Amino acid sequence: MSAIIKKIEALRDQLNQHNYRYYVLDDPEISDSAYDKLLRELQTLEAEHPELVTPDSPTQRVGATPLDSFNSVKHEMPMLSLANAFSDEEFTDFNKRIVDMLHKEGTLEDENIKYAAEPKLDGLAISLLYENGILVRGATRGDGTTGEDVTLNIRTIDAIPLKLLGNNFPQRLEVRGEVIMTKDGFNALNEKQRSNNEKLFANPRNAAAGSLRQLDPKITATRPLSFFCYGIGIISEEIKLPATHSKVMLLLKSWGLRINPESKVVTGVDGANQYYEQLQKKRESLQYEIDGIVYKVDNLNYQEQLGFVARAPRWAIARKFPAHEEMTKVLSIDIQVGRTGALTPVARLEPVFVGGVTVSNATLHNQDEIERLDIRVGDTVVIRRAGDVIPQIVNVVLSKRTGKPRKFKMPTHCPVCGSVAMRNENEAVTYCSGGLFCEAQNKQAIIHFASRKAMNIDGLGDKLIELLVDQGLIKRSPDLYALTHEQLASLERMGDKSASNLLKALEDSKTTTLDRFIYSLGIHDVGETTAKTLADHFHSLQKLEQATVDELLAIHDIGPVVADNIVTFFSQQHNREVIDDLLKTGIHWPEDTVVSDVEQTLAGKTFVITGTLSDMSRDDAKRELQARGAKVTGSVSRKTDYVIAGENPGSKVTKAEDLGVEILSESQFKAIL
Ligand code: IVH
Repeated sequence: MSAIIKKIEALRDQLNQHNYRYYVLDDPEISDSAYDKLLRELQTLEAEHPELVTPDSPTQRVGATPLDSFNSVKHEMPMLSLANAFSDEEFTDFNKRIVDMLHKEGTLEDENIKYAAEPKLDGLAISLLYENGILVRGATRGDGTTGEDVTLNIRTIDAIPLKLLGNNFPQRLEVRGEVIMTKDGFNALNEKQRSNNEKLFANPRNAAAGSLRQLDPKITATRPLSFFCYGIGIISEEIKLPATHSKVMLLLKSWGLRINPESKVVTGVDGANQYYEQLQKKRESLQYEIDGIVYKVDNLNYQEQLGFVARAPRWAIARKFPAHEEMTKVLSIDIQVGRTGALTPVARLEPVFVGGVTVSNATLHNQDEIERLDIRVGDTVVIRRAGDVIPQIVNVVLSKRTGKPRKFKMPTHCPVCGSVAMRNENEAVTYCSGGLFCEAQNKQAIIHFASRKAMNIDGLGDKLIELLVDQGLIKRSPDLYALTHEQLASLERMGDKSASNLLKALEDSKTTTLDRFIYSLGIHDVGETTAKTLADHFHSLQKLEQATVDELLAIHDIGPVVADNIVTFFSQQHNREVIDDLLKTGIHWPEDTVVSDVEQTLAGKTFVITGTLSDMSRDDAKRELQARGAKVTGSVSRKTDYVIAGENPGSKVTKAEDLGVEILSESQFKAIL
């Protein structure tokens, strides 16, 4: 047993060390997968010995059951706020007040005060309580006096150690810092929220706050949260603190807490201003949002002498950066049709300079988002753009709304091609239903049409299709079949040979199957499996075209959304015209063999087809066999009854001979049919 305990402890130490190297030192020693492997090893051992699991084990970050509500936590030392400086003058005034006060106290050694300068993180303040090195409580700032106990959620944040490193930490230690969400994490989270039809977050700070206030820690665990500490609260007295804030931070770092690597000690107003210039230049490239710089008098004795005014320390100030938010007017709301047919409303804005660039458009995503914001043409809105965060409309300034502008409604028809616009139940996005007709989608539609599982046109890749459309040689899929050798050979990087090959591939593609053809039409939500289901059910394109919603619903696997999409698709004249044009090029598939009409003469027999048949394709042969109840497989085994051998049959015939399986020639096969 003691060997197991040792092993478990060793694994925990290793994992904690790696976590420290990754988050605190920013210098990982092993890959993520090697880390995961160690973690799994520990999980396995703990599962075998549940009595050895401790709450500070790296495996115990998530797992608690949801809460009904958060308990409140009274801060033993209030969590204060900071005075702001919005200009160089305001900072100079702040510095002067400090110099004057310390002068009066008679303790000033040097007029050039040293400041610990740190990014002001745009997240939310958190207090972490460690007892005997173990994280026992995490609490929000709340009103500064009373916050909420969010321990279970805090534990899910990998950058926060569950256990301090080393052994020289105080018995009781309160660490304070900021929980943040990275810009990438925020963009990805909002993307996910959008596709799940859930509420979007206005900015990374809101997203971090919303994530920490989840009653179910399992949800918090999925959110990309991180943490930097910036100070201490209560601390038990057995340890003597260093003389400066910056050294206290290094001490915290040695215990495994993550401090901001941009932090620096600067001297006097000049040093502070230089730091401001540097960090402002760096602001956009940082992975997280900052809204300014916090300058703290580094000397802790000075801090004590300076004390507090109201709810803020006299020894610190937040020097703010220009805002990432600006107001502007919505000039119009246009609809853009994407390559996939999604109709996206876009707000055209009075150009406004925000977050370092001029913004004149902002996507409104979909009808739900427009309703959520209640945005109308003519409204004044708040635009936000921070770093890599996509410009977005945060809210409407209702007090500036004049008159009674009408609510915006998504159009009922595609603005590009006039096809019916559809919005499926449970989906936020409105789609144009004219896939193969709509110019906005034609490239995408043709790419889909030519793809392997659709018409399988060999050598007709995405790039070539884009080129053909851009050069005006094709507009819709039927135009592919009118391309000439001359046209193709004259294209960039297309020689004589590849032109001939492509023409042959186009010709070959004309012999297809009904399910491939249905799939190639690009009906929204009709994938290859649904296409096959439809082909197997109707056996004829005409019957599918005429099917009603009820008839479609009667088919297993077809739901109301898909049924509706199919009926809408075929009800539009222009879609039928494109289909007619395709059929006129000679596209065809084996005639509709309705299974029930054909006698099941081959039921229970297994066939393998090999080599080239002269009178029909192998796919056609397969269908004929299947229509008569036979099973057609790809390889020869003892279970095979017959191998049909066309020209150049290859190894399958040899194998059939070895196994004594009967081999049929093409004419014998036709005789059976
Ligand atoms: S020190 C008494 N340092 O700003 C001083 N605060 O406006 C306590 N903040 O609630 C704060 N980055 O959430 C400090 N490097 C930093 C900070 C920081 C962000 C936040 C903190 C606080 C608010 C005060």
